[in-house]
Amino acid sequence: QIEKKIDVLLKKMTLKEKIGQMNQLSADDMETNYKVIQQGMAGSVLSITNPEIANKAQKIAVEQTRLGIPLIFGRDVIHGFKTIFPIPLGQAASFNPDLVEKAARVAAIEASETGIRWTFAPMIDIARDPRWGRIAESCGEDPYLTSVIGVAMIKGFQGKDLSNPTSIAACAKHFAGYGAAEGGRDYNTTNITERQFRNTYLVPFENAVKKADLATIMTAFNANDGIPSSGNEFLLKQILRKEWKFKGFLVSDWASITEMVDHGFCSDNKEAAQKAINAGVDMEMVSGTYVSYIESLLQEKKISIETINDEVRNILRVKFKLGLFENPYVKGNLKEVFYNEEHLKLAEKIAEESIVLLKNKDAVLPLQKPKTIAVFGPLADAPHEQMGTWVFDGEKNHTMTPIKALKEQYGKDSKIIYEPILKYSRDIDSTDFAKARKLAKEADVVLLFLGEEAILSGEAHSLSDLNLQGVQSELLEMLAKSKTPIVTIVLAGRPLTIQKEVEQSNAVLYAWHPGTMGGSAIANILFGKANPSGKLPVTFPKNVGQIPMYYNHLNTGRPANGSESSLNDIPLEASQTSLGNKSYYLDSGNNPLFPFGFGLSYTTFESGKILLSKTVLKKDEVLEISFTLKNTGKYEGSEIVQLYVRDLAASIALPVKELKNFQKIDLKPNEEKQVKFKLPIADLSFYGIDMEKKVESGKFDLWIGASSVKGEKVSFEVQ
Ligand code: IFM
Repeated sequence: QIEKKIDVLLKKMTLKEKIGQMNQLSADDMETNYKVIQQGMAGSVLSITNPEIANKAQKIAVEQTRLGIPLIFGRDVIHGFKTIFPIPLGQAASFNPDLVEKAARVAAIEASETGIRWTFAPMIDIARDPRWGRIAESCGEDPYLTSVIGVAMIKGFQGKDLSNPTSIAACAKHFAGYGAAEGGRDYNTTNITERQFRNTYLVPFENAVKKADLATIMTAFNANDGIPSSGNEFLLKQILRKEWKFKGFLVSDWASITEMVDHGFCSDNKEAAQKAINAGVDMEMVSGTYVSYIESLLQEKKISIETINDEVRNILRVKFKLGLFENPYVKGNLKEVFYNEEHLKLAEKIAEESIVLLKNKDAVLPLQKPKTIAVFGPLADAPHEQMGTWVFDGEKNHTMTPIKALKEQYGKDSKIIYEPILKYSRDIDSTDFAKARKLAKEADVVLLFLGEEAILSGEAHSLSDLNLQGVQSELLEMLAKSKTPIVTIVLAGRPLTIQKEVEQSNAVLYAWHPGTMGGSAIANILFGKANPSGKLPVTFPKNVGQIPMYYNHLNTGRPANGSESSLNDIPLEASQTSLGNKSYYLDSGNNPLFPFGFGLSYTTFESGKILLSKTVLKKDEVLEISFTLKNTGKYEGSEIVQLYVRDLAASIALPVKELKNFQKIDLKPNEEKQVKFKLPIADLSFYGIDMEKKVESGKFDLWIGASSVKGEKVSFEVQ
């Protein structure tokens, strides 16, 4: 039906009108834009957030152009529109796709009310380097978790039916490999092999296309193996269109087409347009080369009209699916939807589930109605900062900060004294340290908020040093001498190297940038109204020198076994020896500070013996795994049980462990549940030596555990 409508429309369209559909304008200069739209030279406008302006622009497109093709308005609605949810890395830590889907739904409901029908999210780049500022916007290091969370976000944004006015088209980005930037420096080169692409970096995108009916994809800024993504025909045509049969449209990232000149891949903007069109980039974001050069490129036969028709068809298909032809305008009932009660409740819930308890010595948490609580650190009351990166529309006057929540919700039973001591995380002024020391001594517990402001992560905000900025560590060191228990709460957009700070704290909560309701979530966790259940979606290294460090790495021929000597064991005048050499760092060993999948609870869980339905299976069979899980502590809580597999020998070496599934199990004290997993053997397929995706027969190890380093191991065989 839609294809027929497109056929009819395409036949009527002049070349200029086709080029117009492929052009996206930025909202910076709307007066000029109105004229361009009237000439039929725009298919989309990026970042209009005022429904009146959106309707005005749309009216020009619909009523004053020859064919009346509606515009599609796009915006970076990354982790909420007005009601801000935790940064995506935090949402991934919830391991709760249902909640993530609900949060994306709310973001779509709020954003669509302004006319936005397209978001540039989710970012499903695999991110294994915390120096990279955009790790905040990712779902972390694992292809399976990123796929599950990414699919949930797409379903939430797009709703059940894309034509519903509250549905917004999702855009999976950045295609592809952007998160593997060398040294974690944004926009930097990547060197991912085809096999690594297929087995790791492309996995979330393949799932997004095949399992979530994804509407659009954005090309990446990086050049991989010398080929910028916006000119990479192999990725965009061979894999995306031919192999995966992607039917949505592809948009370039901001000026990534003209940046192909800077990369040294094109001699000028005209050649950049040519390469992007031939590679299959349907719409150009803001850089204008399509408008400038398509006509002459066609005359010179460097591109073909068939390619242009295909690319315009892809764009029109999404516009038809969104119902824009029938419903081009927006009502704009902003007050009814922004920050409504339900949205805020959801924001609180997902923030609670995203928080990871990293340490809880002597069960200092949950707090038991302490008489006096001393709260320090500027991030305890930083309404803008706690929302995190990529927040354009959330307003700080709606933010519930930790200090506000603590005072409002728990201030009756405890005296809460707050002194920021530092102005911001990079502050190096320690003048107020003496005041902090005095207050800490007099208090029953110290709540110390450490971390980094929103601006220190995100696009183009990479860091080479992941230690706490300014004199934050010195503040903790000084407070630790007071003997008052210290609960450190870290707000950050990435894993920070906090080994010393963890040692000096009695308890540590990692709260990411938790969004609008982050303060209530933190307060609820501190006081035990909510029990932490978040798990790390990314490995926490001890120091920057350990990077890259991710749990699903390949083995070396000389893996460390934990009994290696350290730097201190080596005599000063030792001579070279190669006997027994292993793969590890002399000064920081082989283990991270915290592994992927790690996170504590106020309660404890014990799992029973793992039972397998079979130990020898055929490739089309499903392995059933069952075990009991018991809450052996005194609090009601949830455990995220994780299923990992290792293919012991294959045509290529495979990771030492790979997450294949997980479940969140809720248990009351003493309650026991039977947990069951089904693992289709087909899920063990990968691109092997012949670059064909299939399961290879052989032996496998399987673990069920509370993190990537815990759990009982069992084995099975595939024949
Ligand atoms: O969506 C973003 C992208 O992730 C980075 N460059 C700009 C785009 C639009 O704002």
